[in-house]
Amino acid sequence: MLPHEIIARVPATSANLGPGFDCMGVALDLWNTFSLHNAAETDNLQVAVTGEGADSIPTDGSNIVAETLLDEWRRLGRHDLLPGRGRGYRLTCTNAVPCGSGLGSSSTAILGGLLLAHAAAAGPGFALDAQRQNLILSQAVALEGHGDNVAPALLGGLIVVTHENGDVLTDRLPIAAMRVAVCVPDFKFSTSEARAALPATYSRADAIYNIGRAMLVIEALRNYDDSLLARAMGDRIHEPYRLPRIPGAPAARQAALDAGAIAVALSGAGPGLLAVARARHERIGQAMVEAFAAAGLRARAWSLDVSAVGATVALR
Ligand code: HSE
Repeated sequence: MLPHEIIARVPATSANLGPGFDCMGVALDLWNTFSLHNAAETDNLQVAVTGEGADSIPTDGSNIVAETLLDEWRRLGRHDLLPGRGRGYRLTCTNAVPCGSGLGSSSTAILGGLLLAHAAAAGPGFALDAQRQNLILSQAVALEGHGDNVAPALLGGLIVVTHENGDVLTDRLPIAAMRVAVCVPDFKFSTSEARAALPATYSRADAIYNIGRAMLVIEALRNYDDSLLARAMGDRIHEPYRLPRIPGAPAARQAALDAGAIAVALSGAGPGLLAVARARHERIGQAMVEAFAAAGLRARAWSLDVSAVGATVALR
């Protein structure tokens, strides 16, 4: 039994930011909320999903939040918490982050499961302190395979992350306040498909191109240097292989720039696009929606601030 209801909130993220493939991401002010409480009438874990993905996210044992939560209790040796023999729980996922969009919805699910698992295991004294964040981050990176969505979702802001053999290195880099227009077309482009589209090796010239630009993008975001950002945003590792596979995406990128965006990047593995702008975010979002429509795809747009705070957990 849980002494409390536990509520975890996890933000959307946009990974890569152009040249920072697998190493860089920002948290966005759009949140999925996962709550776990006792359910006397069942001895299993019941799952309910509302909002984004309500008609497509499974509510059985294959639900990522539920699976991650139960696996983490097992991994922590907390078999006493597992459902059964009179113990039952209800997990409610209230989603604002669109699924399969490139905005890190599966990372919110993995972190949601881990945060609920740790908070339930620790009980009323639970605090999401730096030590706990490190534990959860390592496990989330192990489950996700790369950290550029899970790290900013957990820590907030702009995060640079790299990992090797379970050793996760992160740093939260200070950036100026930033608002973006995000556009997500109704197009299925799974992360595994998007990763399979990439070559196995790259030339030295392409590696140098990306290393330099990744550093300059960060510097431009830190200093609010829009002309540097406009020139530095570019990528030769993933976007050239992914954008052409998303109908309308190259045109949507150009439409956003024409409408006043400073720089545009594929959000994560796509199919969403992220446009950095200082004004006219709705107009830029609409321009991207129209470009996707011209390619036959419905699309939705959001104007979002970068969230300086990451995931939170409350017991009540
Ligand atoms: N960096 C990853 C990719 C993010 O672009 O494949 C996917 O979630």
